[in-house]
Amino acid sequence: MWPCVVSSFSRRLVASLGVCGRRKCCGTAAFMPEAPAFEGVRSRSELRDFSVSDSERFWAAVGNQRLSWISPFHTVQDCDLTQGRIKWFEGGKLNVSVNCLDRHVHTSPDRVALIWERDEQGSEVKYTYRELLEMTCRLGNVLRRRGVKRGDCVTIYMPTCPLAVAAMLACARIGAAHNVVFAGFSADALAERIRDAESNTVITVNQGVRGGKFTELKKTVDEAVQSCPSVQQVLVAMRTDTPVVMTARDVAMEEYVFSYHDGDVFGCVADIGWITGHSYTVYGPLANGGTTVLFESTPIYPDPGRYWNTVERLKINQFYGAPTAIRLLLKYGDHWVTKYDRSTLKTLGSVGEPINTEAWEWYHRVVGDGRCPVVDTWWQTETGGICIAPRPSEPDAEIVPGMAMRPFFGIKPVLMDTEGKVLTSNNTSGALCMAQPWPGMARTIRNNHQRFIETYYQPYPGYFFTGDGAYRSAQGYYQITGRLDDVINVSGHRIGTAEIEDVVNQCSAVAESAVIGFSHDIKGEGVYAFVVLKKNIDIKEDDLSRQLNKMVSKKIAKYACPDVIQLANRLPKTRSGKIMRRVLRKVVERDLDGLGDLSTLDDPTAVQEIVEGHNAILRKQQQKQQP
Ligand code: WTA
Repeated sequence: MWPCVVSSFSRRLVASLGVCGRRKCCGTAAFMPEAPAFEGVRSRSELRDFSVSDSERFWAAVGNQRLSWISPFHTVQDCDLTQGRIKWFEGGKLNVSVNCLDRHVHTSPDRVALIWERDEQGSEVKYTYRELLEMTCRLGNVLRRRGVKRGDCVTIYMPTCPLAVAAMLACARIGAAHNVVFAGFSADALAERIRDAESNTVITVNQGVRGGKFTELKKTVDEAVQSCPSVQQVLVAMRTDTPVVMTARDVAMEEYVFSYHDGDVFGCVADIGWITGHSYTVYGPLANGGTTVLFESTPIYPDPGRYWNTVERLKINQFYGAPTAIRLLLKYGDHWVTKYDRSTLKTLGSVGEPINTEAWEWYHRVVGDGRCPVVDTWWQTETGGICIAPRPSEPDAEIVPGMAMRPFFGIKPVLMDTEGKVLTSNNTSGALCMAQPWPGMARTIRNNHQRFIETYYQPYPGYFFTGDGAYRSAQGYYQITGRLDDVINVSGHRIGTAEIEDVVNQCSAVAESAVIGFSHDIKGEGVYAFVVLKKNIDIKEDDLSRQLNKMVSKKIAKYACPDVIQLANRLPKTRSGKIMRRVLRKVVERDLDGLGDLSTLDDPTAVQEIVEGHNAILRKQQQKQQP
């Protein structure tokens, strides 16, 4: 057998993304160094079976070998999916920041932890584990001195940068929770999240820089905290040289130091404001002693070659991105990719939404030169980490384009029919649930455990419900088909349609609205809003659209703005007054034969009007496209 040279970093991340270090290795130790101790486990598939059938021993080994405990756990798990009770490693105590930093500083202090790919191309900055630990400790001390204590929740509203990572780890270090809010969110959306978290401390920067544009993050915080009486202090770091007005509440932070050392480079280009940034830019790579890239910019700044320029310059080995960006880039042509050296790449990952076959093929053929496996990884905020992905699997095991395919270690997916029965056959579709708990899964919703139970455990008693639909192929591979609830996924960002409707309905001209997702070339899903105006309102469509865009970007974020607004006299409703979104979706999908049972519809002519209105929009769009 090959000597097991897989670093602890490679063990977890690389296990998820399927890099096997050497082509022909792959005794079970290559997937998991602890595996040889499990009797009778000789292959990847036996290891997976074991991880599900004897999940306690499996996770106990992982927990013991890979984490440093302050006090060891006495019970591996105490979970009951029928009650929504999730408890892992009971009695155990650890500090995640110690696991991400101190452990590696002990063995290799000069290994690079972070490579900050700043918005300004070619000006990357590297931080070693020692430096990141120093920065984290300093920030932790500042927080502690300023009264932040165990159990508090600190809101972090920062771009993807080393100080934001240090802020996350500093919170964890002193026992505070962090609430990282995507820096693209508006003052209102930020304020709501600060209030939810009951934060008294916010950490931000003077300005953000993305795609060459400056955003006034500190000003947005100033505006947000007006309606957040709990906030007592705002820590402000300087990302640019532009001074900002400081108030009595604000505390200025200093900048820190950097240097460099060699290492394996993991490039997850997600923003830290989303779960992918948490698990695969910060905690996953650092807990495993890896070198991780913090990508601050956009895929097309200064030009559509940005990702591949970054891959060449930083010698990235694993590149993890979103289908929406891949779809966008493929439209610019191959030369933006091929002009850069991508020979360091070993694995290409995709996450956040279904990746269509065209994008998958392009990613594989052009970006990966046909030699890097493309792994379509399915997971969600609630699952904590990757649950279904083509790798790890036996070397040379097939990868089917556009499919997440195989359950990860310890994951037992099931499909449910509409009556809540488990579908046992293959070549079938249903609601995707998980039949067994695993340590990374969510345990509650802060301050709302009841909602947690209702959302995830009541729909299918005894199972965790993901909210997604999936198809299981004849070979038993999983393919995610999309959300089943009223949540849409725009450019990989989940948003409830109700949240958008809520804002649209606040417009003084609007009587009511219904928002649905529709298939969009680049964003995956776009936002389609049906709007009923109040009686006797006279407003030009362009004005309405401007008003709504302004309101939605102010209250939520730019990405949630409607792509299409269709005015209607009324919406199709059931006799009990519920909007029939299914009908709206079918109209927009042009599937008029699939409207289904309309017997509960209050007024059938409403559907005809909606169809006509939609046709008019299509005609307009076609006219616009003609030269
Ligand atoms: C969707 C992002 C298809 C899905 C990690 C899920 C996907 C939601 C995939 C979670 C994929 C994520 N194929 N759909 N590979 N990955 N999704 O919480 O609907 O931001 O429930 O976590 O994104 O989004 P979240």
